[in-house]
Amino acid sequence: MTEARAVAAQARDDDRSLEQTLRPRRLADDEYIDQRKTKEQLRILIEAARRRSEALEHVALYGPPGVGKTSLAHVIAAELAVPIRVTSGPAIERAGDLAAILTNLDPGTVLFIDEIHRLPRVVEEVLYPAMEDYHLDIVLGKGPGARTLRLPLPRFTLVGATTRIGRLSSPLRDRFGAQYRLDLFEPADLEDVIRRSARLLAIEIDPDAAREIAVRSRGTPRIANRWLKRVRDHAQVLHDGKISLRVAREALGALEVDEAGLDANDRRLLEAIIGKFGGGPVGLETLGAAVSEDAETIEDVLEPYLLQQGYLQRTPRGRVATERAYRHLGVTPPGGPPLWERQ
Ligand SMILES: Nc1ncnc2c1ncn2[C@@H]1O[C@H](COP(=O)(O)OP(=O)(O)OP(=O)(O)O)[C@@H](O)[C@H]1O
Ligand SMILES: [Mg+2]
Repeated sequence: MTEARAVAAQARDDDRSLEQTLRPRRLADDEYIDQRKTKEQLRILIEAARRRSEALEHVALYGPPGVGKTSLAHVIAAELAVPIRVTSGPAIERAGDLAAILTNLDPGTVLFIDEIHRLPRVVEEVLYPAMEDYHLDIVLGKGPGARTLRLPLPRFTLVGATTRIGRLSSPLRDRFGAQYRLDLFEPADLEDVIRRSARLLAIEIDPDAAREIAVRSRGTPRIANRWLKRVRDHAQVLHDGKISLRVAREALGALEVDEAGLDANDRRLLEAIIGKFGGGPVGLETLGAAVSEDAETIEDVLEPYLLQQGYLQRTPRGRVATERAYRHLGVTPPGGPPLWERQ
């Protein structure tokens, strides 16, 4: 497993044990923090479905890892007061697997398919009529004698989550009545996440320490929760248990998270672009080979924050390190026009 992928997987595992405690349960602003636009639209969608006593439209959620897609799927089910059935794209290998799931749903259930971009095509084709008008087409026999049996299904709401909406086939994408993009968080919103988590875990934390962790969490609630937990460990073992600004800084430094919130993998990527490729442009595959990460990990895990913060640019010819990246790493950009201004 590549370094960044391993770190992301570790974060998700750490998170799993905390998930029961920290996962927001409802759409209320002090529970499911930030994502205001999405929440506002969802409230209307949910209320309209409730008034008409209909199943909610199918919802696609997309955005970088750890920004709350899975949480939101659970929140939707809770707000609708319906059961949720959780599965994932890679787990459904055959059309029959999906048929088994669909025929066993209680009416109104939220069917959550994580990583929906990884559903096999044959499975997708079963999903189309199921999403559209709640039936399954089962083909009996082969050749000219084959018949199609139409099996009605209970009404359900599909909630699909993906880090890459562009990977969904357009027939699948079109069948989602609502599509919401979940963005990286601003530090002020991450502070709210940290305060909420600290309250739930009974952690004593100073406001400026919460702010410090927020700034260094790559815009991602999962990472904020993870750092909070690690900083608490540090505070308990080496100090008196309370998280002050000084303790937070010390602990985050030990975790190799720098002041800008970049971790070792972020810096490794920027260093490679600057050190090995003269600042770019460098193609994604080439870059991946240089830092031993697969292209998908770079795109899904590392890049969103670096792009958002302006350390990196995407150009038609590849990735380019910006002036900010040079400055951050303390490297003087080469002579001539700055790279970020070259065509
Ligand atoms: N809006 C939010 N408010 C409060 N906490 C949040 C919010 N979004 C996410 N979190 C916290 O971050 C953790 C990770 O979120 P979640 O598992 O929903 O992310 P995800 O988008 O599904 O990630 P992945 O793409 O890796 O599946 C949650 O367990 C929760 O504690
Ligand atoms: Mg998830």
